[in-house]
Amino acid sequence: MPKVTFLGHAGLAVRATAFRLLADPWLAPTGAFLGAWHQYPRNDHLDLAEVLDADWVAVSHEHLDHFDPWVLERLPARTRILIPAYPGPAFRERIRRAAGARQVIEVSPWKKFPLDNRGSWITAIPELSPMCHDAAFLIVADGRSVLHCNDARLTAAQARRAKHLAGGRLDLMALQTSGASWHPICYEYPPEEMARVSLAKRIAKLRAAQRLVRQTAPELAVPFAGPPCFLDEEVAGLNWVLDQEDGAFCDPEASVRWLREHLPNQAFDHFQPGDAVELDTGAVTRDPVSAAFSYAWSPADRTAYLERYAADRKELVAGVLASYPEPGPDLFERFTEHFRRLGSLSDYFLEQIAMTVRFEVTGPNGGSWDVDLRPGAVSVAEARPDVRPQYRITVAGRWLDTVLTGRLAWEDLLISFRLSLYRDPDVYNDHLVGLLKHANAAALRAVEEYETGRDESERIIVHSAGRNFDIPRYCPHAGEDLSIGAVVRDGQIHCLAHNFAFDLATGQCVNARAAALGSRPVDACAAPVAPSASTPASTPASADVSAVELPATAMDVPASFGGPTSVDAPAPVGLAATVESPAPVE
Ligand code: FES
Repeated sequence: MPKVTFLGHAGLAVRATAFRLLADPWLAPTGAFLGAWHQYPRNDHLDLAEVLDADWVAVSHEHLDHFDPWVLERLPARTRILIPAYPGPAFRERIRRAAGARQVIEVSPWKKFPLDNRGSWITAIPELSPMCHDAAFLIVADGRSVLHCNDARLTAAQARRAKHLAGGRLDLMALQTSGASWHPICYEYPPEEMARVSLAKRIAKLRAAQRLVRQTAPELAVPFAGPPCFLDEEVAGLNWVLDQEDGAFCDPEASVRWLREHLPNQAFDHFQPGDAVELDTGAVTRDPVSAAFSYAWSPADRTAYLERYAADRKELVAGVLASYPEPGPDLFERFTEHFRRLGSLSDYFLEQIAMTVRFEVTGPNGGSWDVDLRPGAVSVAEARPDVRPQYRITVAGRWLDTVLTGRLAWEDLLISFRLSLYRDPDVYNDHLVGLLKHANAAALRAVEEYETGRDESERIIVHSAGRNFDIPRYCPHAGEDLSIGAVVRDGQIHCLAHNFAFDLATGQCVNARAAALGSRPVDACAAPVAPSASTPASTPASADVSAVELPATAMDVPASFGGPTSVDAPAPVGLAATVESPAPVE
């Protein structure tokens, strides 16, 4: 009986004997993020009355392609809304405002929340680090299990624990392989650098999905959740990201091809809005309208589709844009006040940031303003030519004003892609983004406690270039189990969760500002031993477990992305991008 219908993007509908649950439905015809993002392919042919007739709606996080206020407003009064419990109040408060009188319930991590009286349940699996308020949902309906990963970058151990909790079997695992990041597409990179970073990001995303599937072997694995398309004139140029030769986002069809190449014994499929799969039998029904769409269309066919789509939504998008007026003459004053408040929230974050961020604010009442973020010395001033900022954000005043007025969160603005970014050096600063997106003392304190309270007593040994290194088993960034979720190469360990790379000799993170890996060279040690892939997450290996030089095949670039399938082949462009200069997930 249990059936999953795909709603487009990350939306799923689960029909069970006694209930109907929607997870992360995004249906608004106005798109999301200041009208910039739209569902791709379009899902506005779905029968709205039928889709919205739900007992439960689970919303994983506050990104507007998952949390759709337009949907919540149209739900029946009986629908109850489930959200993960996060350390800060921002998501809870936003969703309560959008839900009106409907009940909103926070689901505790890993706790089974009953959905009926027949043994069905749901739980939330948040990312380990509270820096990211993202969570997967594990749903068991009439005895069948769905792991809906959303945008959460689960560790391999979390995915294995989810399978264990679901009774040792995952019937369907839906994985985000597309990404939704403003890096690299909002960055002012020259074309060749943009192509190199884009390829690295796509490969990193696929490798992260591959490791979760390899660890859990679900009955069916489904890449989903993007990419979006861009219909408004200001951002329509970004549709280059959809190209699978040199774009920034992997589409589900390309993802399935790549994953099948790398895990040939695993069942994969991709689905479009309205497609459905019966979990008891695996029978698939295809939506006749969506069947006319293909991610693999020629550029001309894709352009024609997007032009029709843009024409259909032109008035709706214009209505969204018209609701954001130009800011008044007090913009700089409110900007200053905003950053003074942010600067008062966490000295720990300011220590990690320690940089000057320049805002080039265009349009009426804009200007060039420097924000210096350091402990005890947050200052905002007109930009001076003798100051060299480490970060530059160019944004129209009307978009910046959405954040200053509290109408949008910083992350919404960044993801709208209605801005451009530059940084020097070109190194990701997790804490700058963290301060902006959380903007709340309790949420920032939770990150500080997580990062300063790490237990590094469980150690593993890795071997690279003839040397052995004693390192913590869990990644200092966000806890990935490095004994199963990393690749060692050329003196570096690359964590597959978010693609941070650490130099084994120094422990320093080489591609982001992040805590160092507590690495110690070891003169002599026993030959490394691979941990068993079947080790249950609930019974971690002993503290003296030795680990591995992980298989080079994990670094493979498929022929379809312009690279060979072996790292031993002569260095190609794609491979070099992946191995030598990985791009962390941002
Ligand atoms: S857990 Fe994020 S890079 Fe390792």
